[in-house]
Amino acid sequence: MKQIKIVGNKTLKGEIKISGAKNSAVALIPAAILSDQVIIENVPNISDVNALDDILNYLGAEIYKEEDKLTINAKKVNNKPITEEFSNMLRASYYFMGALLARFKKAEMYFPGGCKIGARPIDIHLMGFEKLGAKIENEGNKYTITANKLIGTEIDLPFPSVGATINILMAATKAEGVTIIKNAAMEPEIGNLVDLLIDMGAKIEGKDTNTLTITGVKKLSGGKVKVIPDRIEAGTYILAGVMNGDNLVISNMEPNHLGSLLGILEQIGANITVGKNQVIASRSLNLKPIDIVTDVYPGFPTDLQQPITSLLIMANGISHIKETIYENRFQNVKYLDEMGADIEINGDTITINGPSKLIGKVVTTSDLRAGAALILAALSAEGETTIKEVKYVLRGYGNIVKKLTNVGAEICLEDV
Ligand code: EPZ
Repeated sequence: MKQIKIVGNKTLKGEIKISGAKNSAVALIPAAILSDQVIIENVPNISDVNALDDILNYLGAEIYKEEDKLTINAKKVNNKPITEEFSNMLRASYYFMGALLARFKKAEMYFPGGCKIGARPIDIHLMGFEKLGAKIENEGNKYTITANKLIGTEIDLPFPSVGATINILMAATKAEGVTIIKNAAMEPEIGNLVDLLIDMGAKIEGKDTNTLTITGVKKLSGGKVKVIPDRIEAGTYILAGVMNGDNLVISNMEPNHLGSLLGILEQIGANITVGKNQVIASRSLNLKPIDIVTDVYPGFPTDLQQPITSLLIMANGISHIKETIYENRFQNVKYLDEMGADIEINGDTITINGPSKLIGKVVTTSDLRAGAALILAALSAEGETTIKEVKYVLRGYGNIVKKLTNVGAEICLEDV
């Protein structure tokens, strides 16, 4: 089991360069199946990417890795059922549904893995495939999706699901005729995939809007894309700077991808300076409390709900955070309270009574962003904190120990 140890209260000074976005890379890599050869640059060094590479290899793709550049040759890919073990490795395994369906008119796999932060059904994905003419057979958690033909149509999403938008988008690229996806998600990661698909020869209009119009084509070939900076990684390190920074520079990022985070930090009096592709953050005292409601993009990102909880523990007063996207995304709270925080969970809302002094403890994480929240708390706590089960964190934060060590944190990763 992997664990991280942190001795808190060290000032974070210097520069953290943000990596490519996990939630982009995990869509771009399966999309390679739609083409013969694609090049993906700025790929983050995270275990979710390794898992997807393993699945592509299993399907017969050839992958060449040069630092953060992946060249994926998918000419020899053949259609095989994606095993339960592979399907369970991560949430994004389900992108092979849309990609295999588009290329082979058939996809077989199991219910995807991913952080246990809610039921996370895939009904919207399946509804979209059916609307395109696919037949869905489901036995237990195994899915077999087949289509004689995929026919373009209008698909109105009941919720702007990121994953469903991406999956249906991929399936529609090679459908006959025009597909219109209404109430599509608008997270920047989707625009990054649209760029790759268009570079492969797909016909897509409406990038970064809630209506995507796809005119199916017979063949896709080539394709090159650079993964956009990870806005959630950037937000996490900005919060670290606001808690413990001395002009901590978070660079190689897109401030306008952060949704309402920067506005909220300014509202509570955080010491941040926003540049073109960087944010400088310093320890901020006398922070004001605030009420936050998570929302789809460009609202406050649910993926930063747990990390910002750790910051609001330091605010002078009572803050509330309402989680509207997932039904079980407060698993960091009990450990923060053990470290000295005063947080109550009331249904979909937490009440954070600050300020509190945090003391290092032995804690455990059960999901990626809960782990990030515990790391932020540990960086501020008195003494040493041990965070167990950090494999979840390594899924989404590339080189986190090195990045934090380079700016002065006392942090180490252990295998026990
Ligand atoms: C993506 O998950 C991200 N994961 C999540 O990031 C992120 O929290 C989420 O989008 C929202 O921004 C990846 O991109 C790999 P959704 P996804 O479909 O696609 C419900 C992280 O920490 N829903 O927009 O699964 C679902 O249950 C991860 O990096 C249905 O009901 O998100 C959830 O409550 C966590 N039916 C809500 O919609 C469906 O068919 C949002 O899901 C699909 C989703």
